[in-house]
Amino acid sequence: MGERLSGKRIFLTGAAQGIGEAIARECLREGAHVFLIDRDGDLLARTVESMKAVENALGFAAADITDAEAIDAAMAAAHAAIGPINALINNAGVNVFHTPLETSDAEWNRCFDINLKGAWNCCKAALPAMIAGGGGSILNIASTHAFTIIPHTFPYPLAKHALLGMTKALALEYAAVGIRVNALAPGYVETQKAVDYWNSFPDPAVARAKTLAMHPGKSIATPTEIAKAAVFMISDECPFMNAACLVVDGGLSMLQHPE
Ligand SMILES: NC(=O)c1ccc[n+]([C@@H]2O[C@H](COP(=O)([O-])OP(=O)(O)OC[C@H]3O[C@@H](n4cnc5c(N)ncnc54)[C@H](O)[C@@H]3O)[C@@H](O)[C@H]2O)c1
Repeated sequence: MGERLSGKRIFLTGAAQGIGEAIARECLREGAHVFLIDRDGDLLARTVESMKAVENALGFAAADITDAEAIDAAMAAAHAAIGPINALINNAGVNVFHTPLETSDAEWNRCFDINLKGAWNCCKAALPAMIAGGGGSILNIASTHAFTIIPHTFPYPLAKHALLGMTKALALEYAAVGIRVNALAPGYVETQKAVDYWNSFPDPAVARAKTLAMHPGKSIATPTEIAKAAVFMISDECPFMNAACLVVDGGLSMLQHPE
């Protein structure tokens, strides 16, 4: 087991699968104590079961990040289980993809409630203990949608742009008390979300091949590759990294247009 995160007590959202599950595994591997949250309690319990070799460092609760009271309760449970939280990783998020004029108010609200307000609910619950403890680190899992636009994915990119805005605002507000706030922007990652997206096409295999082919390196990321970047950002290895956004997208967002 590594020690890059020893002394870290991490509250991590959306941990039942995908990128969040990979981040949980990498954080545990690097010596952190972690408290995992997901709204899918059954799946989270099964995921935690497969991590139980390190259960002394691990707690979890079913909670929806859009429910501020549930998050406050989960934060209290986290303090009781692993001690005062000094690191928060806001990973839970959902794709809400429409054309602008086909976006109902309900879908607009669902998108912003989860992808922006949910992250704020967790920051609000975590910040007092970090301030009292003399510092901490917050990492928001954004997306390349935080600074680029793919047509017909409205309003998801708007919420991710705002998440980047919140990252900068909180970073500047709390830097003087030793709290760093950063964002990680993955590009395409091979998760269930990506599989669901490919499955929405008549030929999923062709859709997947097309996604890979448009990347400069003809491949996309694994969740573990994203998790390793998250470990670096939440660790004490980069103390001067604040209000930053680290892009992990194989270079795709730098491509002006295909040849
Ligand atoms: N997969 C990608 O290609 C990709 C790319 C860029 C950014 N991201 C971002 O990475 C994060 C994780 O994505 P993923 O692909 O691993 O997703 P995923 O769908 O595989 O997993 C997300 C997890 O979050 C949980 N969740 C969703 N809404 C929640 C809520 N309101 N409260 C608590 N838990 C909730 C889900 O139950 C699920 O277990 C998201 O913020 C996403 O926007 C993903």
